[in-house]
Amino acid sequence: MRILVTGGAGFIGSHIVDHYIANGHQVMVVDDLSTGRLENLNPAADFVELDVRDPGIEKLFKMRFDVVNHQAARGNVRASMEDPMVYADVNVRGGINLLECCRKHGVRKFIYASTGGCVYGELQYKPADENHPMVPRDPYGASKASFELYLPVYKLNYGLEYTIFRYPNVYGPRQDPLGEAGVVSIFARQMLLGLPVVINGDGEQRRDFVYVEDVARANVMALASDKDTVYNLGLGKGVTVNEIFQVLRDITCYSQPAGYGPPKLGEVRDSFLEASKIARELGWRPQTDLRSGLEHTVEFVRQKELVREG
Ligand SMILES: NC(=O)c1ccc[n+]([C@@H]2O[C@H](COP(=O)([O-])OP(=O)(O)OC[C@H]3O[C@@H](n4cnc5c(N)ncnc54)[C@H](O)[C@@H]3O)[C@@H](O)[C@H]2O)c1
Repeated sequence: MRILVTGGAGFIGSHIVDHYIANGHQVMVVDDLSTGRLENLNPAADFVELDVRDPGIEKLFKMRFDVVNHQAARGNVRASMEDPMVYADVNVRGGINLLECCRKHGVRKFIYASTGGCVYGELQYKPADENHPMVPRDPYGASKASFELYLPVYKLNYGLEYTIFRYPNVYGPRQDPLGEAGVVSIFARQMLLGLPVVINGDGEQRRDFVYVEDVARANVMALASDKDTVYNLGLGKGVTVNEIFQVLRDITCYSQPAGYGPPKLGEVRDSFLEASKIARELGWRPQTDLRSGLEHTVEFVRQKELVREG
């Protein structure tokens, strides 16, 4: 298949590109490199540096893509509170720009990365399934939830097939350890460098951590699915940030205790997702257990830090 992956130089998008190429697909990546990095890019993918909002993106659709996989987004909850306009602009208007290109150029299918961690808000029951009400608490979550609504509209009116994934906390190699999100990479780097680690709040908040390769596999499975629907990804059980700290401490032989800071403003207490629908319908199950996923991530961060130190 010919597949356009937006955000394919980013953390999750670059793993999806690797999986698509390994499965014999032809891939073009569009990324504005705002948080993505050229070093993440698979050399077998074509690359165009472009903003998904740019009307010029339509020229690329002469390639006659079968599928558009849309990972590009602004993804920082706190920044979205400060600049909600730009979050709507990139995450909603940028997405519609792509949908219009799909409509005009006969793309068969659209795959979209939404967020289970932010569209559901504070969970009314746990784990949250796909029918849980969407009550986002921040403009990032609201923008991701809003764009979901366009996909059934384009299916109904123009026949564009779709799969929506609501990701949990995704972790693994290539997640930015200097970013705002991605507690695993951040802690791993700090521990490897012997720096103090500060947990926001009491550390008992629970998250559903899924390894990035498992997320990429789901994106491969979606290519063959003819169901137009939304799937949670997740392990269905929460792991506390304190537990993540302990396992990483063990892997990195870090000797210092955790420090505790004020909780992050607007952060939900617990977020974990029921992913039995995708298990039933597509046969997806996470294959990487937490310990080995954390080990791979630590190893990646270690190599990166060695290179950085020269
Ligand atoms: N990481 C997680 O735990 C998580 C959880 C839920 C949902 N998601 C979603 O998964 C997707 C990928 O997230 P990620 O963690 O890999 O983040 P990331 O920042 O590593 O990747 C996003 C990519 O999109 C690119 N990008 C941003 N704005 C763009 C624009 N206007 N035009 C073109 N490219 C643009 C960035 O340069 C980057 O390469 C996002 O849609 C995000 O909302 C991620």
